[in-house]
Amino acid sequence: MSTRKSVLDISELTSHISSHYGIDLSVYRSSCMKRRVMHRIVMVGCENIEDYFFYLDKHPDEIERLKDIVTIHVTGFFRDQDVFRKLQMDIFPELIKRKSEEGSEVIRIWSAGCSTGEEAYSFAILLDHLLQKRSEKYDLEVFGTDVSEDSIRTAREGLYSEEKITRVPNHMKSSGFEPDGDRFRISNRIRKYVKFRVHDLFSPSPYSMLDLIVCRNVLIHFEHDIRGQIISRFHSALCDEGMLILGKSEALEMDSEYMFEMVVPRSKILKKKLTGKSQLPVTNQTPGGEK
Ligand SMILES: C[S@@+](CC[C@H](N)C(=O)[O-])C[C@H]1O[C@@H](n2cnc3c(N)ncnc32)[C@H](O)[C@@H]1O
Repeated sequence: MSTRKSVLDISELTSHISSHYGIDLSVYRSSCMKRRVMHRIVMVGCENIEDYFFYLDKHPDEIERLKDIVTIHVTGFFRDQDVFRKLQMDIFPELIKRKSEEGSEVIRIWSAGCSTGEEAYSFAILLDHLLQKRSEKYDLEVFGTDVSEDSIRTAREGLYSEEKITRVPNHMKSSGFEPDGDRFRISNRIRKYVKFRVHDLFSPSPYSMLDLIVCRNVLIHFEHDIRGQIISRFHSALCDEGMLILGKSEALEMDSEYMFEMVVPRSKILKKKLTGKSQLPVTNQTPGGEK
C-alpha cells in the first residue's frame, strides 16, 4: 500500500479508534475490514498507518467516513422479491389475522441496519397496502435504525431517484410516493408509520414487543461471537410470536438455533422459539453505544 513501511499495524489503528472515538472496528470481519481501511488510507493520500493517525486528528469528519466505508450501505426498495412475495402472500396476512384474533391493533416492525431507509419504507408500503383492505384500524409502527448518521439523515429525508423506486410494485407507487422535481418523495401517508434513529447494534435494543425484526445483510460483516450476542438481543426484543428475517446469504449459527426455528429457508424467515433462553454472555460488549 505504501511507499514508507508502517511501524504500526492495523490492530493498533483499531485500538486507537476504539479508545479515542469509541468505535470498535474489531467486531467487523477482519479480512474485509482490513482491506477497506487500507484502501481508505491510500485514498486520502497517507503513506502508512502513522500518517493516518495524524490525518484522523486533523480531519474530524474522517471517522464518520471510515465507519461508512467499513459498513457498506447497499440497499434498495423491495430488495429480494421472493422475500416480499412471501411476506405479502403468507407472513403479513397471518400476522394481521393473529392481531385481529387477539384484539390487538398495534403492529411493530424493526428494520435493523436499515441503511438509507428503503427497507423500512418497503415494509410500511406493503403493510399499508394490505391493511387498506381491512375494516379494522391498525397502528403500524416501523422503526429503522442504522449506525451511520449520514444514512439515517438520507432515510429521514425520504427522497429517491426514479431508478431507485423501479422495484416498487406499480399499484403501490401512488400511495408510497409523491413526485418532487425529478425525484420521488415518500408520501405523508407512509412517512407517518416510519421512525428512524441512529443506533448501534452493539447497544441494547431500543424496542420491545416487536412482531418482526428484519436484519438483512448486516450480521454478515460481524465476527461470530458478536452475531450471537445480537441474535440474542433480537430474541428478547420480539413478542412471543415474533419473527426474524436475515439476509439471503446469512445463516443462523448452530449456537443460536435454540432461539429461532427456520420457517422459510429460501427467504431466511425465522420464528422465535419460546424455549430459548436469551441471555447475554456476562462479558457483553457495548462499544460505541447509542447516539
Ligand atoms: C448492506 S446494508 C443493509 C441494508 C438493508 N438491511 C438491506 O439489506 O437492504 C448494511 C447496513 O448495516 C449497517 N451497520 C453496520 N454496522 C452496524 C452496527 N454496528 N449497528 C447498526 N447498523 C450497522 C451499515 O451502516 C449499513 O447501512
